[in-house]
Amino acid sequence: MRTRRIRTRASATLLALALPLSLALTACGQEAKGGSRYKPPAGKGGTIGLAMPVKSSERWIADGKNMASQFKKAGYDTDLQYADDKVENQVAQIENMITKGHRLLVIAAVNGSALTDVLKQAHDAGIPVISYDRLILGTKNVDYYASFDNERVGRLQAQYLVDKLKLGKPDKDAGEAKSIELFAGDPDDNNTRYFWNGAMKVLKPYFDSGQLVVRSKQTRMNQATTLKWDGGTAQKRMDDLISKSYGERRVDAVLSPYDGISIGIISALKSAGYGSKSEPLPVITGQDAELASIKSINRGEQTQTVFKDTRKLAEQAVQMGDALLNKKKVKVNNTTDYNNGKKTVPAYLLDPVSIDRSNTQLLVDEGYFKAGQLK
Ligand code: GAL
Repeated sequence: MRTRRIRTRASATLLALALPLSLALTACGQEAKGGSRYKPPAGKGGTIGLAMPVKSSERWIADGKNMASQFKKAGYDTDLQYADDKVENQVAQIENMITKGHRLLVIAAVNGSALTDVLKQAHDAGIPVISYDRLILGTKNVDYYASFDNERVGRLQAQYLVDKLKLGKPDKDAGEAKSIELFAGDPDDNNTRYFWNGAMKVLKPYFDSGQLVVRSKQTRMNQATTLKWDGGTAQKRMDDLISKSYGERRVDAVLSPYDGISIGIISALKSAGYGSKSEPLPVITGQDAELASIKSINRGEQTQTVFKDTRKLAEQAVQMGDALLNKKKVKVNNTTDYNNGKKTVPAYLLDPVSIDRSNTQLLVDEGYFKAGQLK
């Protein structure tokens, strides 16, 4: 009862705040159709709300900055907010954007399943929504999805491990098994299962043939997830895995879904004595091409990462948003794979690129980093 009363009061406040805006627009000759429902007029101008999850990872800072500057170039103002990885902050920020009458919301969700109510408010206010990088789940009120091919990210990581361990073809008489430990991302991030499923498609035949073995027996995604993608949490889990399941034995490979997690895993491995000539570090994957990890790759510690150019993703979101606001056809390249439980969200997926020591230079050639930064 109490929550309902609070919610009703909150909606009344929202309405009161939104009303002068719709009246002002009507007064300017821009028709507010359907009672209080604000229908943004087509054309340039107005503000785009950019709701990003967290500043602790350098990629989201770049995503926000890139979108702000590219939307500006396309003729819009932006309101960029970070939620400090807290659902309640993100919901409050989006509510505020709706109240201010922003024309479009671009959201990288903290928790893909927690935005149903606030996106209903956006829908009622006539504000379209682009789901950015992470798919928003459980609501019809998401118009488009801009991301990278998430399953391919997982496949690239796993294939790298297979190649580096020289496993060849899955084969019943493949000699001594290599050991691997598996890490997954945040359980509330929808991308986590795409990365995991992509990787498992590649690794499963090697588990089945016995060429790869997970000595901890933690082979299910829910045993391998890392709350908030946190490196410290991954470090503790890796400490535990080494002490409980390895003893004298070696870990040959670690599937890590994200650079911040890889750095934590490497710290645990070093504390356990890995990282010398006689006991080299295992093969370790990653994702995002974060500067700390590229430096680590160049030092010969982390082995691989997946580069997802945030400038291109921002460009995609801006193109989608601009087309949507100008009633032009929105370009998509996937209309089948991203069902959010309520609808299949039309998506544009970009191609991720695998990076190891042999091609970190690509990041300099592409202008993602300056040569001096990688030393
Ligand atoms: C995911 C994203 C990854 C990585 C991770 C942690 O949603 O797709 O690229 O950034 O979050 O921030």
